[in-house]
Amino acid sequence: MLIDAPLPDGYRFRQLTADDRHAVTLLDTWAFPSPVEPEEIEKMPSSLTWSRAVGVAVDGPDADDAGTPLAAMHASYPFGEFPVPGGTLPTAGLTWVGVHPQHRRRGLASAMVDLHLARCRERGEPLSALFAAEYPIYGRFGYGKAADDARLTIPRGARLRDVPGADQHTVRVEHVSRERHGALVDAVHRAAGAGELTGINRPGWATRETEELQASWWHDPTGFRHGQESRRIAIVERDGEARGYALFRRKLDWVPTGTEGTVNIIEVVALDVAAARALWGVLTDLDLMTETKPFILATDDPVLRLLDNRRATGPLVADNLWVRVVDVPAALSGRQYSADVDVVLGVTDARLPNNAGAWRLRATAFGEATCERTDASPDLELDVRELGSVYLGGESLAALAAAGLVTERTPGALARASTAFGWPLAPVCSWIF
Ligand SMILES: CC(C)(COP(=O)(O)OP(=O)(O)OC[C@H]1O[C@@H](n2cnc3c(N)ncnc32)[C@H](O)[C@@H]1OP(=O)(O)O)[C@@H](O)C(=O)NCCC(=O)NCCS
Repeated sequence: MLIDAPLPDGYRFRQLTADDRHAVTLLDTWAFPSPVEPEEIEKMPSSLTWSRAVGVAVDGPDADDAGTPLAAMHASYPFGEFPVPGGTLPTAGLTWVGVHPQHRRRGLASAMVDLHLARCRERGEPLSALFAAEYPIYGRFGYGKAADDARLTIPRGARLRDVPGADQHTVRVEHVSRERHGALVDAVHRAAGAGELTGINRPGWATRETEELQASWWHDPTGFRHGQESRRIAIVERDGEARGYALFRRKLDWVPTGTEGTVNIIEVVALDVAAARALWGVLTDLDLMTETKPFILATDDPVLRLLDNRRATGPLVADNLWVRVVDVPAALSGRQYSADVDVVLGVTDARLPNNAGAWRLRATAFGEATCERTDASPDLELDVRELGSVYLGGESLAALAAAGLVTERTPGALARASTAFGWPLAPVCSWIF
C-alpha cells in the first residue's frame, strides 16, 4: 500500500501499528484536548484498524521506529457496506486526522488527505466519508457536506400524537452491556438502515462494521461521562420481539426549585412508527427529568411528526456526514436514482485528475445506472465537492445551482438531474466516527 507520498520537507510518513498506541494517544490528545490522561486512554479499546493508520514523523534517524513521537496522523475505517441511495458501496471513513499544534499550517493535513485519497483508489473504495471537527476544513479537499442532522431539546411530558398499535408495545430499561445487548442493537440498527420502516434504505446509515469499532463503541469510561450516569438502554418490544432501542444517560441536578434533569440520548432507533411512539413516550417522561435531548436524528425522523409542538423543542440543524467522491464512474454507477436520467456532468477535481472531465450518467428510476466518459458537452458543470454534497440525496443540485456552485448549460437538465439525484429518505449517520 502506498506510503511514500509527497510531504513538506523534514517529515515522512510512517505506517502505524498497535505498538504505536502511546505515540498515537499523545498526538491525539494534543489535537483533541481531553480531560482524561493519555495513560488512561491507552487502557481503553482502540477503534483503529491499524493497517489503515498512518503517522507523520519528523524526519531523522529514528523516524521509522515504532513508538517515536508523531507530528500528525490520520486513519480510516473500512466500511465495506456503506449505505448509498438504493445500495451499498465500499467507503473509507476518514478519521483521527490530527496535527500537533507545533506542526500545524505547514501542509501536513493536506499531504495526509492526498495520501488517503490515493490509498482509497488503490483499495478500490469509490467514496470517502467523514465527520468534520470544524466546518471549514474539508471543502478544499473535495469533501462536500452531504447530510444534516436534527438536534432537539424535548420538554418533559411533551405531547406526542397517538399512533394505533403503540399500546401493544412494552418498553424495558436496563443497564447496557455489549454482552447482553450488542447483538440486539446491531440487528435493529442494520434493519433500520436497510429500510424496514419504509422499504427505502437510509443513505449514510453506517454500521459499526469492525470488531475494533464495536469494542470501542461499547466501552463506557467514567472519565468521558461529564457527570452523567453510566449508559442505559430502553428496548421497545412487541410480542417479545425488539422493535427499537435508545441508548441514553441521565444527568440530575438538585436546584432550589426542585430538580433539573436531562435524558441524553446517544442513539435512538425504531423500526416502525408505533414502536417509535411507545419508545418516545418513555424517553420523554422519566421521573426527575426536565428535558430529553436526542443527539443525532435524521432531519425526517418520525419523532418530528409525532411531536405536537415541534417548535417548543428548539430544533437545530447541524452538518452530519461529508462525502468525497474518489472515483466518479464507480460512485455514480453504484447508487440508484429517483427518476430516469440521462445527463452529461462536467466535473472539476483539483486533487484527483482521473475524475475530471465529462461523464455521461444514464439511469432508470430505482434501477440500473451507468456512468461513462464522453466527448459530449456537459449539461451541468460542477466541482467534485458539489458532487459529494448531492451524492447521498440530501442536498439538491438546484439549490447548489441557485448558490452559484453548479452551472446549467442545457436548459431543463438541472431540474431533471436534481430530481434524479434526490432520495426519498434524508441521509444521516446515527453515530460520529
Ligand atoms: C485541522 C488540522 C488537521 C489541519 O492541519 P494542518 O496541517 O494545519 O493543515 P494544512 O497546513 O494542511 O492546511 C491546509 C489549509 O487548510 C486550512 N485549514 C486547516 N485547518 C483549518 C481549520 N481548522 N479551519 C479553517 N481552515 C483550516 C489552512 O489554513 C490551509 O489553508 P490554505 O491552503 O489556504 O493555506 C489541524 O489543525 C488539527 O489537527 N486540528 C485539531 C484537530 C482537528 O480538528 N482535526 C480534524 C478532525 S475532523
